[in-house]
Amino acid sequence: MNRNIVCIGAGYIGGPTMAVIAKMNPDRKVMVVDINAERIAAWNSEDYSLPIYEPGLVDVVKEVRGRNLFFSTDIEGAVKECDIIFVGVNTPTKMFGRGAGRASDLQYWEATAREIKRFAECDKIVVEKSTLPVRTAAAMEAILNGERIPRAKRVAQGDALAGVGSGISFTVLSNPEFLAEGTAIKDLLEPDRVLIGGPQTDAGAKAIQAVVDIYATWVPQERILTTNVWSAELTKLAANAFLAQRVSSINAIAGLCEATGADVDEVARVIGADGRIGPKFLKAGPGFGGSCFKKDVLNLVYLCESFGLHTAAEYWMGVIRMNQHQQERIVSRLFAAMFNTLANKKIALFGFAFKADTGDTRETPAGTVARLLAEEHVRVTITDPKALVNARRDLADLSDVTYEEDEYKAAEGADAVILMTDWRHYPTLDWNRIYDSMRKPALVFDTRNCLAAAELRKIGFRVLNVGK
Ligand code: UDX
Ligand code: ADP
Repeated sequence: MNRNIVCIGAGYIGGPTMAVIAKMNPDRKVMVVDINAERIAAWNSEDYSLPIYEPGLVDVVKEVRGRNLFFSTDIEGAVKECDIIFVGVNTPTKMFGRGAGRASDLQYWEATAREIKRFAECDKIVVEKSTLPVRTAAAMEAILNGERIPRAKRVAQGDALAGVGSGISFTVLSNPEFLAEGTAIKDLLEPDRVLIGGPQTDAGAKAIQAVVDIYATWVPQERILTTNVWSAELTKLAANAFLAQRVSSINAIAGLCEATGADVDEVARVIGADGRIGPKFLKAGPGFGGSCFKKDVLNLVYLCESFGLHTAAEYWMGVIRMNQHQQERIVSRLFAAMFNTLANKKIALFGFAFKADTGDTRETPAGTVARLLAEEHVRVTITDPKALVNARRDLADLSDVTYEEDEYKAAEGADAVILMTDWRHYPTLDWNRIYDSMRKPALVFDTRNCLAAAELRKIGFRVLNVGK
């Protein structure tokens, strides 16, 4: 077994994770492969215009690319060359057939398993990185270690490696990724924990150790936790569901604060001072977005339903419902504040990414709000320092939306600004200048509670917040 590593899937998880693994393991060759040639070209671009924005990522890629980190579309060559194979392909929520809207679409993942099987010439350790519903490792194992393609058939298929596959064994591990976008490099370099799940057999123990060795070059031993495969897979879903649940819980309190005159930031500060609860993930806002939370909670719901645990399924579904409700509430409150008509008004969305420090717009609350506003015939202008390319693509079907890099231009002539993403520089903009260029009465809806509301009111703005 050699020490080379490949990750199949050069996305938000595969790219940064492998860059850090390569940085911390200079004696190993690390490869990242993808079917998307354009994406690979961007990873390899001379001017480092990488396909994803992540603070600190360019520096790591500059250090390791061409040294021991290589991006390529040659999946076959990489599978042959590397005995440890991470799988980080996309597993979006299934939009058709059984489990539609809840279960994960595993077609990319299954295609990958079949490719690994077709190209492998010796024993491999296959490590799941994508979020997958519990027990998919078993399916992966079945595809990889199940029926072997007979030599005659492989020859007939023109497979140059005819016959080499038989007798190969694959050990499937689960190594869920806990990094958050925007802090991926920091999370990878200083993880709270690394989780590696594997079969409780001798081969499983050896494979787990092989993956522990990769992380042990920089992660303290006590932070590398090993479990059985099912625990590892379920932990990823459960951890994200707990985090999502905290966001929905504080957002549920926010509505009550608005109705009663309580201030959600004060409530959160005091709740969070209880050591048993802790201060993180208690920020009320427009609701959670991102590729993981909704998908993982829906997966959990689907699993609960499949096992007849209907009350548990309902419980977790409430987290999703609360999140959708939060975005609908933003538009309802705006509607009421803008004299019950939004048609033909201009509204500028400040921020479109689902959180600061990323260009990612998957499941972004700003997308839902933009669509609800478009239904009301609002003229929407969107500004964002990193997410305009994705915003244009996401909203390509909406005609009355414009995109503007410059915040001041975006606000010109607008009736309202809705701050959707907590970009750090928004509070430092010249809000006097913004006010002067807007139509009056000018309104700011700060859904992240990050602007100085009292100052804005002094300028002349009407101000709305979440939970106040
Ligand atoms: C999340 C998990 O944090 C990470 O461990 C997992 O691997 C992937 O999913 P990510 O989606 O990148 O990471 O970002 P995260 O920082 O968790 O934020 C998720 C969403 O919740 C964002 O839209 C954010 O704005 C929102 N959020 C977060 C709040 O509204 N309030 C909070 O207090 C925290
Ligand atoms: P994540 O956030 O999980 O990293 P992304 O969508 O950013 O997800 O990345 C997943 C990547 O996996 C995409 O770049 C996609 O092209 C790639 N991919 C999907 N299926 C395959 C496959 N069969 N072989 C190689 N790469 C694949």
